[in-house]
Amino acid sequence: NADAAQYVPEGADWAALRSAAVGCHGCELYRDATQTVFGEGPVPARLMAVGECPGDREDTEGHVFVGPAGRLLDKAFEAAGIDRSKAYLTNAVKHFRFTERGKRRIHQQPRRSEVVACFPWLREEIRVVKPWLVVVLGAVAAKAVLGPSFKLTEHRGEVLEHDGLKVGVTVHPSSVVRAENFSEAFDAFVADLKALKTP
Ligand code: URA
Ligand code: SF4
Repeated sequence: NADAAQYVPEGADWAALRSAAVGCHGCELYRDATQTVFGEGPVPARLMAVGECPGDREDTEGHVFVGPAGRLLDKAFEAAGIDRSKAYLTNAVKHFRFTERGKRRIHQQPRRSEVVACFPWLREEIRVVKPWLVVVLGAVAAKAVLGPSFKLTEHRGEVLEHDGLKVGVTVHPSSVVRAENFSEAFDAFVADLKALKTP
């Protein structure tokens, strides 16, 4: 299971992609996770936002951004004047990566090899969703789309052109949830989103 490519049906529409992703064994993460959490939203969509990987709640429920990071994202979208229901939301990696501590499952950042293995799904989502703008949320998503040497801190709030794609760069909502100075981090996140949606 070198990567997801062998599981991707060629030229498929969104529904067929999502079905095929259910059975993906493109990396080791499917073994311990509950299910594939594929992207969701309108197809096509003007705006696509890409997170890191599903969290505990997303893994259990099978939907993107339904946990604490998702609630924060909802609030930030609302404050920035972005309608979540009109955006397509997905992740760089489609299975939850975690370690167990007692009964708790602690989220772990996916490895670069897992991000690379999973990229064929994101590439196909971009093909079918045809976004006007792809917003990468955090370094893992940024590196998945823009390459491993990309430095988020140097390009936060910017819109870049990459392979014919417009890519807007900001932080991950989880980093805002955890921030020491929450209101400052939240305002900065909203300011990024506002700047990105009208570059
Ligand atoms: N964090 C992410 O990056 N994606 C989700 O779907 C949930 C939390
Ligand atoms: Fe396939 Fe991605 Fe899941 Fe790995 S994380 S098994 S590549 S869908």
